[in-house]
Amino acid sequence: MPSLEILPNTTHLGEGTKRARHEYSKAMHALGIDIGGSGIKAAPVDVATGKLLAYRQKILTPRPALPEAVAAVVKQLTTSFDWSGPLGITFPGVVVEGVTRTAANLDPAWIGLDAGSLFAEAAGNPVRLLNDADAAGVAEMTFGVGVGEVGTVLMLTFGTGIGSALFTEGILVPNTEFGHVEIHGHDAETRASEHAKELHDMSWGKWAGRVDEYLQHMEALISPQLIIVGGGVSKQAQKWVPRLRGIRARIVPAALLNDAGIVGAAMASVSRGAPDPSGASDAAASSGRDGQPP
Ligand code: BGC
Repeated sequence: MPSLEILPNTTHLGEGTKRARHEYSKAMHALGIDIGGSGIKAAPVDVATGKLLAYRQKILTPRPALPEAVAAVVKQLTTSFDWSGPLGITFPGVVVEGVTRTAANLDPAWIGLDAGSLFAEAAGNPVRLLNDADAAGVAEMTFGVGVGEVGTVLMLTFGTGIGSALFTEGILVPNTEFGHVEIHGHDAETRASEHAKELHDMSWGKWAGRVDEYLQHMEALISPQLIIVGGGVSKQAQKWVPRLRGIRARIVPAALLNDAGIVGAAMASVSRGAPDPSGASDAAASSGRDGQPP
């Protein structure tokens, strides 16, 4: 996929270019939708600042999480925000050119599916689809704790699975899938995700030990200078990050918390190579509200 480069700043445009400036300002607002194993969250975002422009809305991920059911939620969210314009969506699996290649924590029906087209049809709007951790990483590198970091940076999200995003010189290497490296013969995420902590009722100490072991493994493979730890569990970072003692890299909790995926999705939709943001959804829908005020 192309690098996630935001459109150039055109605020210097003169009087004769008012129309162009208007289009530009519209293009700098995008709807981000973050599909997760438990919830699907959305909000419009000012991609120049990374700020949400409205309250976030969240709808529970349908079970089973079949493509048509998830697409219906995407439609509900775009309609609820009355959105027609740039639309970015994250997916918790490998995404290559709109095709979902893996779905470790969703239904296998996603594997090999042209999910980008499915969502575009549901939303009545072109869509940019990307991996959830990649989106969160791009947001953190642009507006969060990764700003100005030029060396190797590894972002990890601890949730239902473990997501990864790898950057060097600020450029993303997409679809790294480091949550699936093998530790003691098991997928790392089955031992060290937030879900694994809950499933096996692990104490913070025990779980932090598993995360520490995992991070040591990752450090041996790619020697990052900074590891950003995100996902829902980063809200309680003080309970586990200070216990990670075996790592040379700096370990910093993510700053954007639950909004990183939404912000990164929105950014992707206005990056170079994004689809033409025209068309609108006309279906009616409603949903619950949560999240922070804009
Ligand atoms: C998936 C990744 C995803 C991560 C977090 C893993 O199981 O393979 O693609 O980024 O979970 O959702």
